[in-house]
Amino acid sequence: MIQIAVMGHGVVGSGVTEILLKHADKIAEKVNEEVCIKKVLDLREFPDSPIADRFTKDFNDIISDDEISIVVEVMGGLKPAYDFVKQCLENGKSVVTSNKELVAAKGAELLKIAEEKNVNFLFEASVGGAIPIIRPLHQCLAANDIEKINGILNGTTNFILNKMINDNMSFEDALDLAQDKGYAERDPSADIEGHDACRKICILASLVYGTHVYPDSVHTEGITKVTLTDVEYAQAWGGAVKLIASARKNGDKQEIIVAPMFVSNDCQLSNVDGVYNELLVRGDSSGSIGFYGRGAGKLPTASAVVADVMDCVLHKDKRRSIMWKDGNGENVIPYENYVNAMYVLVNAEDTSAAFAKANEIFGECEKIAMNGAADNELAFVTPELAYSDFSAKYEKLAQVADVKSAIRIAKI
Ligand code: HSE
Repeated sequence: MIQIAVMGHGVVGSGVTEILLKHADKIAEKVNEEVCIKKVLDLREFPDSPIADRFTKDFNDIISDDEISIVVEVMGGLKPAYDFVKQCLENGKSVVTSNKELVAAKGAELLKIAEEKNVNFLFEASVGGAIPIIRPLHQCLAANDIEKINGILNGTTNFILNKMINDNMSFEDALDLAQDKGYAERDPSADIEGHDACRKICILASLVYGTHVYPDSVHTEGITKVTLTDVEYAQAWGGAVKLIASARKNGDKQEIIVAPMFVSNDCQLSNVDGVYNELLVRGDSSGSIGFYGRGAGKLPTASAVVADVMDCVLHKDKRRSIMWKDGNGENVIPYENYVNAMYVLVNAEDTSAAFAKANEIFGECEKIAMNGAADNELAFVTPELAYSDFSAKYEKLAQVADVKSAIRIAKI
């Protein structure tokens, strides 16, 4: 019998215990061992839980218990998760986590400790919820040079954008609903400011390119500045506004960014609905591959956690080879150099004169026509240009027109 502990009994943690209890026989059959939850760590009381007698508020009950060989960390955040996980690994316990903040901030260090102690540190659930992505990238696509990864990696913001577009719901109401459904982070600013998606693309880039990418080296914009007018112009242009996380190889470095972008209807990312996530990965040999599924929520995320626990059981005497080295951000190309076409929205009394000016400044722009647009609104798409160049030209336009928005056109 394998004894495990689960640290955290929130949305994902309660899903982990639910699946482990519901599928106990099936899991035992697949890993040739019974997997038993010996302890659940949480500061709250859960008297109605079928395993209420196994709850503890004291981490020492886990770390000092030699029978516990696998620890699931689903507390979220860095404190105290980092300290607890580190201690577990140092004490020879394998760790499974869904905590993207932890992996993005401390992945290189924790993987190194796991290697030294010959235990596993697995985190399939940290990116894409139920979607298998860590293992496919690490294993199935291992023979490829990964040219680029583009994805919708945050369910909450995708859910909010969809509710705004389809149900005319306000940003605040849509966020409340996402929180009620258990999609949003404890501090939802991590979702709406893009930090959650940033952590996830950092994990994928670290895995694929072999050097830890820390979130502070990645330019990150959330969806808080996206207006309903922008969303409508995206539709008139022939696409949708999506929060895109992107990592692409450029020589021996990478371009990595998280930002709202116009995604053309020709690209399947434009159709990703609600809390779903999708990633498009292009390998030099495989070509493009899509990964789609529920990116957040109790059971979808828990299913990926439990699969990692099963993998730990199957690999209890040998390590999974997941590893990357530490990094200092030098492998990430500054975002000012990334080339995109840009959507720009301007308010002007004379929109024809403003458009003539835009063409003079940016080169030949494409005007976006929209039924029912206000008379003083001008929306257009610039030619492709480096962001630094765009910023300088945008400033120039702002001197003669009332510029309202600028959003990248995605290059998927
Ligand atoms: N808040 C995250 C999301 C949860 O909305 O995608 C899953 O990581």
